[in-house]
Amino acid sequence: MEDTEIHRYPSAIRGITAATEAMSFDMISEARVGALLATLAASKPGGSILELDTGTGHGTAWLLAGMDAAATLDTVDTDSAVVAVAQRHLGADHRLRFHVMDGAVFLNAAASRQFDLIYADALPGKLSHLDEALSLLRPGGIYVIDDLLPQANWPSGHAPKVPALIQDIEQHDGFTTVRLAWASGLMLVVRRGNPYTS
Ligand SMILES: C[S@@+](CC[C@H](N)C(=O)[O-])C[C@H]1O[C@@H](n2cnc3c(N)ncnc32)[C@H](O)[C@@H]1O
Repeated sequence: MEDTEIHRYPSAIRGITAATEAMSFDMISEARVGALLATLAASKPGGSILELDTGTGHGTAWLLAGMDAAATLDTVDTDSAVVAVAQRHLGADHRLRFHVMDGAVFLNAAASRQFDLIYADALPGKLSHLDEALSLLRPGGIYVIDDLLPQANWPSGHAPKVPALIQDIEQHDGFTTVRLAWASGLMLVVRRGNPYTS
């Protein structure tokens, strides 16, 4: 099996990718991660989904492609220039809400909300504010992070933070986790329901 062969792309991806290249934004997620995001989103009919962060909307387009008509997606990013690309290509979708703001501020303001799927792709909600992000997961909710394998665009000093993050996540009680050394390197984290007692 050749897993880089993706047989169906969301229609917005071509335009988003071209605009991303034109503005030399090098933090776009990869297609295999997108296909996984769509698959996870499809497992949450009517779900509340959170993306930290939007970038130019690559992950956003894949999440929307997997979501049903009743699901909603909140996507957050501080950079209005990159978000403008996502808004241009995806802004007509009424299931999507853009938040041009700091992810940490969003997480704190969302403390009373619950999400069925969180894709955390920037510092807040991943390397900082991890507890705040995990606390928003509904039982059965999925938290997904990528870029855990060495990436060309990692800033200096980033590499040692990754194993520490993985260890930190695995030490949280009440979650089931799996490491996936696939694509850019992922981790899936699911909030468990009530424990089984005989
Ligand atoms: C890896 S990129 C996101 C890529 C996107 N998820 C995708 O699928 O292509 C990380 C994004 O985080 C944003 N960002 C950085 N610091 C942030 C912060 N404190 N709050 C919100 N967004 C932030 C950057 O502007 C950048 O667009």
